[in-house]
Amino acid sequence: MATVTFENVSKRFGDVVAVDDLNLDIRDAEFMVLVGPSGCGKTTSLRMIAGLEEITAGTLRIGERVINDVPPKDRDIAMVFQSYALYPHMSIRDNLAFGLKLRHVPKAQIDARVKEAAAILDLTRYIDRKPRELSGGQRQRVALGRAIVREPAVFLMDEPLSNLDAKLRVETRANILRLHQRLNTTFVYVTHDQIEAMTMGSRIAVMNEGRLQQVGTPQELYDRPINRFVAGFIGSPAMNFTTVEVGGSGDNITLTGPNITIPVPPQFHESIGTTGRSLIVGYRPEHLQLGPVAGATAVVNAKAEVVEYLGNEELIHASGANRDIVAIVDSAYRVRPGDMLELRVPLEKVQLFDPDTNFALPFGAVNN
Ligand SMILES: Nc1ncnc2c1ncn2[C@@H]1O[C@H](COP(=O)(O)OP(=O)(O)OP(=O)(O)O)[C@@H](O)[C@H]1O
Ligand SMILES: [Mg+2]
Repeated sequence: MATVTFENVSKRFGDVVAVDDLNLDIRDAEFMVLVGPSGCGKTTSLRMIAGLEEITAGTLRIGERVINDVPPKDRDIAMVFQSYALYPHMSIRDNLAFGLKLRHVPKAQIDARVKEAAAILDLTRYIDRKPRELSGGQRQRVALGRAIVREPAVFLMDEPLSNLDAKLRVETRANILRLHQRLNTTFVYVTHDQIEAMTMGSRIAVMNEGRLQQVGTPQELYDRPINRFVAGFIGSPAMNFTTVEVGGSGDNITLTGPNITIPVPPQFHESIGTTGRSLIVGYRPEHLQLGPVAGATAVVNAKAEVVEYLGNEELIHASGANRDIVAIVDSAYRVRPGDMLELRVPLEKVQLFDPDTNFALPFGAVNN
């Protein structure tokens, strides 16, 4: 069983707390993505699993075994780095075989594993070439191949696609997912790119400033972000936020801001608190709609400033009450700069946050 378990794990470099009291259960054979902005502690977390970084406090396990003091070579992991270096003077075959030779794996076994890895990664026809005779994407596959031949219990990958151009990145993303399905092994994958995280992760762990914010499936993070950080980090373009005030009473509670009016969303009826209180409302660009919407909605008034045509949709940068609002609407509306817009958001898509704690308000049961 190749689970990976962080129990109150911290890592300090002098005064810098790179990872702060991390608790995370990575399940056997899952594709776990660690995501967050630069410097949030992703690489450090991965390097602790690999044994390349000592743990300052806490317990780290692979399966049942505590690995705090187990040397890297005895951890049964393989790591693919952002800047992988292939041996330029060796053929692809020898690059793939090299790590196994160092470990004195019998030759017949090396040949079999190299052959299989090359087949999985579609490298068989390049096997006798040198790295300089391959494209960037093919070289990246060789770097993955060197990890595969090790047959580790856990694959660790640190931004392995960052050296590839946009098109190759999408292709290689799919290749890595196929690899995961085929090998059925635990993968821990680090990226700062939330789109990569959303498209690849079975689950995603979002980090910020050394602290784990939330762990969940891509849909859980998208639908129910636990705080403003996750709400703003996951989703592209980012969620819009506005401050509103709670007014009215009984069944007529409304949230209002300078350019926004929202009947209280049923899912927040219990948690909305008292009249006069301020809240932060969040709504995603893709949930704003022009034209009629069935049922109760939030209404946002804004003036279109810049319109980016995307084909079937258009991305609108608008302003309302001196704030930028980003909306994605059907391009059939042909919005022009200067147009006054009445944008609507279905109430079930509205998110609310406590301005003091930045936590999302708890969802309640919706009766209807
Ligand atoms: N060897 C080190 N000595 C001192 N500080 C370090 C060391 N390694 C990392 N740090 C600090 O620890 C924090 C976390 O670094 P880490 O490399 O884990 O970030 P990251 O999330 O991988 O960022 P990026 O997306 O830029 O790769 C940063 O503040 C970094 O400056
Ligand atoms: Mg990093």
